This record gives sequence, C-alpha cells and structure tokens, in this order.
Amino acid sequence: MNAIRPRRLRNDKNIRDLARETRISSKALILPLFIKEGNGIIEPIESLEGHNYYSPDTVQAGIEDILNANVKSVLLFGIPDKKDDEGSGAYSEDGVVQKAVRKIKERYPEITVITDVCMCEYTANGHCGIVKDGKVINDLTLPYIAKIALSHVEAGADIVAPSDMMDNRVAEIRKTLEGKGFHDTPIMSYSVKYASSFYGPFRDVAKSAPAFGDRKTYQMDYHNRREALKEAMLDIQEGADILMVKPAMAYLDIIRELKDKTQNPICAYSVSGEYAMIKSAAKLGLVNEYAVMCESAVSMFRAGADMLITYYAKELSKAIEKGDIG
Ligand code: PBG
Repeated sequence: MNAIRPRRLRNDKNIRDLARETRISSKALILPLFIKEGNGIIEPIESLEGHNYYSPDTVQAGIEDILNANVKSVLLFGIPDKKDDEGSGAYSEDGVVQKAVRKIKERYPEITVITDVCMCEYTANGHCGIVKDGKVINDLTLPYIAKIALSHVEAGADIVAPSDMMDNRVAEIRKTLEGKGFHDTPIMSYSVKYASSFYGPFRDVAKSAPAFGDRKTYQMDYHNRREALKEAMLDIQEGADILMVKPAMAYLDIIRELKDKTQNPICAYSVSGEYAMIKSAAKLGLVNEYAVMCESAVSMFRAGADMLITYYAKELSKAIEKGDIG
C-alpha cells in the first residue's frame, strides 16, 4: 500500500488551514467605484446590484463604507454629463474623476486611489480613442491618454490604469509624468485586455458601448495566449509597474502565464459580467452566491494574481475576516 495519503492534510479545518497553498488578504482587494457628474447623488446601479453611483460631493460617504469593510483601494470610473469627439471631459481639471479624487484624498489620504484612464465614457462615439474615417487612430490618441493620466495624477491619484489598449500608451504616459516631475506614480497597465462580452453590464453602467463597430481592433482576440505575453513584455519595457489581466474568470491561464514569465505584480480584474453571472444564477437558486464568490476569487489568486479588482471586494473582505477564505 502507498504510504502517501493526501487525505491526512484534510483531517480537520485547522490542518487544512495550515496546509493551504493560497493566502489572500483584504489588502489585495480593489473595489471599482462609479462617479457621476452632478450633486447629491447616491443612486443604486441597476445592472450592478449592490453598487451605487456617487457624485463628487457624496463620494466620501462611499469611501467611509468601503473603509468600514476594511478595503483600502478603489478604482474610479467617471460618468460625465457631456460627451464629445475628443472626450474632453476626461482630461478637464474640473472633470468628474478629478473632482472625486480631490475629495477622496482631502478626507482619506490613506486610501489608494487608482483611476481608469480611457476615453470611451467621454467620447460621443463610445470608442477608446480618436476616430477618423470610422477608425480608431492609435497615434492621434496617445497624447490624449497621456493628458488624461496627467490630469488624474495632478488631482492626487496614487496609481493610473490605462485601459484603452493603444500601442505605446504606457511609454507616452511615463514620458509625460516624468516631464512633470511625477517620477513616483505607478502605472497599472491593462496590459492584457481582451475584446470580451463579459463587459456587458459595465457598458450599460458607463453608457460606453461603441456607437458603431466594436473594440476588436484594439482589444485582444480571446483565442490568443502568446500575444498576452507580448503585450505584457511591451508594457514592462515602456515602464509599467503592475500588469493587469482582464477579464479574470475565463482567463486564469493568462494570469498564470504572466505570473510565471514576468517579475511584475499581477492584478486580475474580475469584470462586471462575472459578477452579474454569479448574482443572477444565485437569484434563480442555482448556486450559493457566497460560496461561489469565495471559490472564484480564490481561484484567481491561485492562478497567480497578486491583487484583485472585484465588485465583491467588501463581501470578500468580510469572508476573509470570518476565516472562510484566506
Ligand atoms: C474602459 C473599460 C471597460 C471596462 C473597464 N474599463 C469597458 C470596455 O472596455 O468596454 C470593463 C469593466 C467591467 O466590465 O467590469 N475601456
């Protein structure tokens, strides 16, 4: 008989906890937050149950709630009241995200504010860049992306996260930040962002679905894995500090690939459609929401994520505190 019996390490909860291979902490969780132009807004987001829109003047209440759940990092998205061809609301000093960043940092300097750097919520056509003759033009877009990132950093953002998927945008942002003396601001690059149908609820929340065509000329084809490494390597050369993989649940192999082949911290983004699937399956009584939330988040860390952006950040933090995971 074989003397090796894996079941010995499953005898009771304490032993299982000791022998656990994946440890997660609330310190590694990041919560997305949607800031809407206006005043006095604390409004439930229909397609993201359990989440609210905040306006810059109410965002401190949202942060209070997040800190109470022991989550210390947020990723901000802006919902402007006006859109135009150049997405000018995205880099305005008085833009919705810039105002919110200042409000948050004024009262809660201890919270890490990450900002999504993109144009699609601000352009009338819903694309992530400057459009000419029906095409998103890479090099015309770069100065805008850099300008948006700089305006966020000037407002006090701790980390900028470009999600547009233009080539060379990390280099452009890095050069611009260096030129203004912001040597110490990390760039969390959406290095590996797939053209995914899992963004459905988000586009409804941010009113950012493209008015024509799709995002397949800039976001990646989900058949590709080696290309993910190519994107990540380019971003590293251009000065990215953290590499993001998005979505997460259907891309665990990509998370592992980057973890094994790079030296940068890896951030997984479990996107709106992943959250919505768990929520709706649970509503139908088909799965246990809490258990599936825990299992899928742990799988992302097990795959190699060092940090996780998730709409379940507060609930996961509580699950960790209770000792159910982590
Ligand atoms: C902006 C952006 C998107 C998401 C994050 N940043 C939408 C998109 O690329 O269409 C999706 C996030 C989510 O689904 O939770 N480019």
